[in-house]
Amino acid sequence: MSLWGGRFQDGSSEMFRRVNDSLPFDRALASQDIRGSITWSKAICKAGVLTQDEQQQLEQALQALLVKAETGTLDFDASSEEDIHSFVEATLIEQLGDVARKLHTGRSRNDQVATDFRLWTREHVDLLIADLENVKASLVGTATNNKTVILPGYTHLQRAQPVRYPHWCLAYVEMFKRDISRLHDLRARLNQSPLGCGALAGTTYPIDRHEIASDLGFDSPCLNSLDAVSDRDFVLELLFAASTSMMHMSRMAEDLIFFNSGEAGFITLGDEVTSGSSLMPQKKNPDALELMRGKCGRVFGSLQGMLVTMKGLPLAYNKDMQEDKEGLLDAVTQWHICLCIACEVIDSIKLDSERCAKAAREGYANATELADYLVAKGIPFRTAHDISGQVVLAALEKKKAIEELSLEELKQLSGLIENDVYEILQLEYLVDKRSILGGTGIDPVSKALAAEVAQLK
Ligand code: ARG
Repeated sequence: MSLWGGRFQDGSSEMFRRVNDSLPFDRALASQDIRGSITWSKAICKAGVLTQDEQQQLEQALQALLVKAETGTLDFDASSEEDIHSFVEATLIEQLGDVARKLHTGRSRNDQVATDFRLWTREHVDLLIADLENVKASLVGTATNNKTVILPGYTHLQRAQPVRYPHWCLAYVEMFKRDISRLHDLRARLNQSPLGCGALAGTTYPIDRHEIASDLGFDSPCLNSLDAVSDRDFVLELLFAASTSMMHMSRMAEDLIFFNSGEAGFITLGDEVTSGSSLMPQKKNPDALELMRGKCGRVFGSLQGMLVTMKGLPLAYNKDMQEDKEGLLDAVTQWHICLCIACEVIDSIKLDSERCAKAAREGYANATELADYLVAKGIPFRTAHDISGQVVLAALEKKKAIEELSLEELKQLSGLIENDVYEILQLEYLVDKRSILGGTGIDPVSKALAAEVAQLK
């Protein structure tokens, strides 16, 4: 029996139930729905709708259901209810009879679902913040274990200038810090209570919306009933935060896939996060990283889908909005899984510092340094750039690094080059010269790393 059967003579068609029922997925909101109902029972008791005794009966039954919800022992599959709200109400009616039929007084599923989903979102925001903190800790860990390693830095995927490995790690730490702050921001915005807004216009019962809000941990009540029941900005904001963070993870995955390739060979990954080929016995594939990159598709898709669902909706509630759940539930699950596996992948990284340094040396990354050296000897930068380019050409012809050319060979291109050039062509020298705030020199990198270590939760 549905919640709204009174004015209907015929039952719903099988196909209507398939398109309309949300219990298959909104069961995820069971504990939020029950907690919301406990608060609501207290509110309508104060408003004189329930006696103390009736409220107590309801609260006890709801508490027992909450335990079942939290231990995963509610039997949804045996139920023919339409959604989680009718499931909880029907279960109570079955247990308590008429007193449970009073619970929905003054309430609508519209303010109920908006409340449940905000509570669910808030709880998951807190879990995701913890997940992101873990990824940060893993990055800080591998940076600390490999403090002095130098590897090539790239632009256009061409070796550009060498960087310290912790500098690469801390670049992603910055991104994950922004992801965390985005979650804090949206959490503050979503933490308002729609309960008491009814179907769209508010309720006639004298309930205290401030008290309801604080009972459920909200900062305040939503201020407009039409907006409260039809706003899904919090869903969009979390989907955007998920998409941005997945994009960050995907870029990190892409870097690591390349570092792990036979061509680069800078890192190896643990057996526990890689897989073999059914055909080629030699292979060890970075599947976890590829899935971190691949799962972006569905998460970005959910953001796009929800924007499109919302764009044409008139105020206030429309059933289209039931489509808010599956996309967010899936995006949050995928994001959570990816953040967890990211930690395992990062913890398993083993660096080949020799290969990293060799690659960093091979790309003529010290050509800029040579130009700066000539500038210091009084040559205008543009000319120095030219000479340095000719030195690279000469070295390329001889299949040598710049620092492997003899002083005579160098002098053929500029008489100003002296023996002291070899020091500045050293990898560590040119990296550590970038000692400016935010640069890759050992000093700023050590300071930045120490600051992150101190921040770890
Ligand atoms: N299952 C519905 C949803 O998720 C609950 C709200 C139903 N409201 C209504 N007026 N039919 O949106």
